[in-house]
Amino acid sequence: MNTRVSFLENRINEELKKVLISEQPRTLFDPPVYVFSLGGKRLRPILALMAADLFEKDFEPVVNPALAVEIFHNFSLLHDDLMDNADVRRGSETVHKKWNENTAILSGDAMVIEAYRYVTKLPERYLSRVLEIFSQTAMEICIGQQYDLDFEKRLDVTEDEYLNMIRLKTAVLIGCSLKIGAIISDAYDEDADSLYRFGINLGLAFQLKDDLLDVYGDFKTFGKKPGGDILSNKKTFLLIRALENSNNEQRKELEKWIYADEYNPDDKIAAVKNIYDELNLKILVEDVIEKYYLASLECLSSISVPDIRKTDLKELSESLMYREK
Ligand code: IPE
Ligand code: IPE
Ligand code: MG
Ligand code: MG
Ligand code: MG
Repeated sequence: MNTRVSFLENRINEELKKVLISEQPRTLFDPPVYVFSLGGKRLRPILALMAADLFEKDFEPVVNPALAVEIFHNFSLLHDDLMDNADVRRGSETVHKKWNENTAILSGDAMVIEAYRYVTKLPERYLSRVLEIFSQTAMEICIGQQYDLDFEKRLDVTEDEYLNMIRLKTAVLIGCSLKIGAIISDAYDEDADSLYRFGINLGLAFQLKDDLLDVYGDFKTFGKKPGGDILSNKKTFLLIRALENSNNEQRKELEKWIYADEYNPDDKIAAVKNIYDELNLKILVEDVIEKYYLASLECLSSISVPDIRKTDLKELSESLMYREK
């Protein structure tokens, strides 16, 4: 990996290790410490610090808000795993499995509050702008997550609805991380906005790739049980396209599995995946991912700093296209 990125990642991990480690009761705070300890890519806080690099500013004032974003992200995972019925994350048991559902709910709530504490630890002149984008983003994530759940019950979700849903549940937090870094680095408003749009496009590509890995990823590397989206009838790009492009027989088969009450989960995953393969959907999604990756580069190119300073962000976004975890 790029040495600058590793350096920033280490800086984040060094601080994250101190979060909620001594407060009582431990029954409330051990779960967040546990999820932080399982690693994760730390993509969002790294991007926030990289924004400071881009504008040639010290990243230290960005560290606390960057931690806020990572804490909020980890909160969203606790609740998401409960809503998605996921037993494994980052290769380990999810909080609601290791403890129980009430723990996932309340520890998650505590994490949101902790995130807000961290986001306000910054020079006062940036406070109102940073709080505003953070709160807007947090609400958008809730909205996106609600659409994600609502869509499970529908068969007529369109690609535009899907893209809007993943923009809300995933892309805005990536955009927000970068924008916070830009604000604290005194970037021009237009540059901060271009960087935000870079993040949105990157985030769309990121969630499309996540949906692909949910079907085609390797359990050990990806750290999440493959097929979860298929089991919950998530309207991923794959399933939307499958419903659209299927012939009568395939459509009947898809609907049979979507409406089935009792089945062997492995059978359902294999059957739906088989239809995705018949329709060549993996390649199709990879093309869409590339489209958003290229769109993200467009946004980056419009930022008014020398190209050489954009190299790390370019490299990182390219590596995300090929990620396996
Ligand atoms: C998982 O995010 C949730 C999605 C938005 C797909 P990441 O893939 O960034 O998860 P970690 O933090 O690396 O575990
Ligand atoms: C994640 O969507 C979005 C949020 C956590 C806000 P997913 O449900 O696809 O994420 P994973 O695959 O469980 O990480
Ligand atoms: Mg989800
Ligand atoms: Mg999930
Ligand atoms: Mg997923």
